[in-house]
Amino acid sequence: MSDRYLELVNRGPTAALATRLGLPRPALLRRYSPGAPLVPGPVLVVHDDASKGDADAVADALVGWDLDVRRHAAEDERVGAVVLVLTEVASPADLGGPALAVGGVLRGLARGGRVVVLSRPASGAGGDAVRAAARRGVEGMLRSLAKELRGGATANALVVRDGVAVTSASVLGGLRFFLSGRSAYVDGQPLEVVSHGGEAPTDWDRPLVGRVAVVTGAARGIGAAIARTLARDGATVVAVDVPTAGDALARVANEVRGTALQLDVTADDAGARIAQHVAARHGRLDVMVHNAGITRDKLLANMTPDRWDPVLAVNVLAPLRITEALLEADAFGPAPRVVGVASTSGIAGNRGQTNYGASKAGVIGMVQAWADRLAEAGGTINAVAPGFIETDMTAKIPPLTRQVARRLSSLQQGGQPVDVAEAIAFLASPQAGGINGQVLRVCGQNMVGA
Ligand code: NAI
Repeated sequence: MSDRYLELVNRGPTAALATRLGLPRPALLRRYSPGAPLVPGPVLVVHDDASKGDADAVADALVGWDLDVRRHAAEDERVGAVVLVLTEVASPADLGGPALAVGGVLRGLARGGRVVVLSRPASGAGGDAVRAAARRGVEGMLRSLAKELRGGATANALVVRDGVAVTSASVLGGLRFFLSGRSAYVDGQPLEVVSHGGEAPTDWDRPLVGRVAVVTGAARGIGAAIARTLARDGATVVAVDVPTAGDALARVANEVRGTALQLDVTADDAGARIAQHVAARHGRLDVMVHNAGITRDKLLANMTPDRWDPVLAVNVLAPLRITEALLEADAFGPAPRVVGVASTSGIAGNRGQTNYGASKAGVIGMVQAWADRLAEAGGTINAVAPGFIETDMTAKIPPLTRQVARRLSSLQQGGQPVDVAEAIAFLASPQAGGINGQVLRVCGQNMVGA
């Protein structure tokens, strides 16, 4: 699905016309392509006084990735990214210095540039209200800053739980994800790192080599993009979809050199069939992505069981039953990754979507409740919550509503299926082992419940 307006305001004579007329000009986003630089210019590391030690450690890691790291802003220099380390900030009074230092370089931030904040959760400050206010203040600053950036630049935060070092695998893995083009449509989001878990991959471009991943709803849309992205990152992919989508499913499975499994995820034996398929064809299972999803929108006053029940069955009851079956059957390898696909509708609600909102909020409930269980099994379970993504599902929205929905985000455009897929691939990767029970929005900082 394409966004004609986005193309018109960025290319040829219509771009100049749009500028003259003062029309909004959503930027072409900087997306990942193998071999491209991780960031489009030098990386400036800024910190408050108390966080200097952590900032030094982060700067060392960035140098280790061959990035051009600066510790002080040079006048008029363009930077590709700013990393703002505020892990030890103790009072709101200490936020001004580093915040204004970042402000001073924003005009020189490259197109597709990044601001990544490292902070700690307010909940970890105990009874220290001043520290908690500072930590929570960082989040407020981040969300506002993301709304100010232009040119496809984004701002996100890694909120590192107390006791977890900034050099741990998932902090550095998350930092790399946010700096890279893989996070193009993630904006204004705090992502919590809850433990030391995880490990740096041997190859950052192919972190999933040797892993087997199952993706439901893989015949088209976001699911097909997830299959392609996981395969690009080295995984062997089992593409699952309903028998009526068999041809499209076979095409995706062939393209990614994986296998196809025709299966309705609501079938009683869906979990058992997935376990049998991976055991027989691939000998292991590492990643389970619950992407299959449907909508049957109606105002609740007009809702009928034939619209309510299937949405709950496909979107949340199937992921619950399949995950339970796979865990019970001990089907996973040593570091399982389960990723559910929620939705911003499950966070903020959406008119006409009580059934869908219930199902997608349910996915969030599932990942939060099973985080400890997956941790005990050496793994993680997380959700991504897409906003407006350009797929067959959103192509059904009436044109005017669709135009408005696209522009109602900080990035002023819908995301592409690959943007959701990149977030899932990150959560599925070895370097994300310390991120568990979390929800990552992939929504361009959608104004809906942002
Ligand atoms: P889509 O409608 O293009 O694709 C969904 C796929 O799931 C289809 O191939 C379909 O055959 C398959 N599927 C449906 N029921 C199934 C079942 N019972 N068993 C096996 N497969 C089944 O949808 P899209 O847009 O790619 O969405 C993918 C996921 O992302 C869904 O969970 C959706 O709710 C979620 N999402 C999408 C957003 C968007 O803007 N497109 C926004 C937020 C969430």
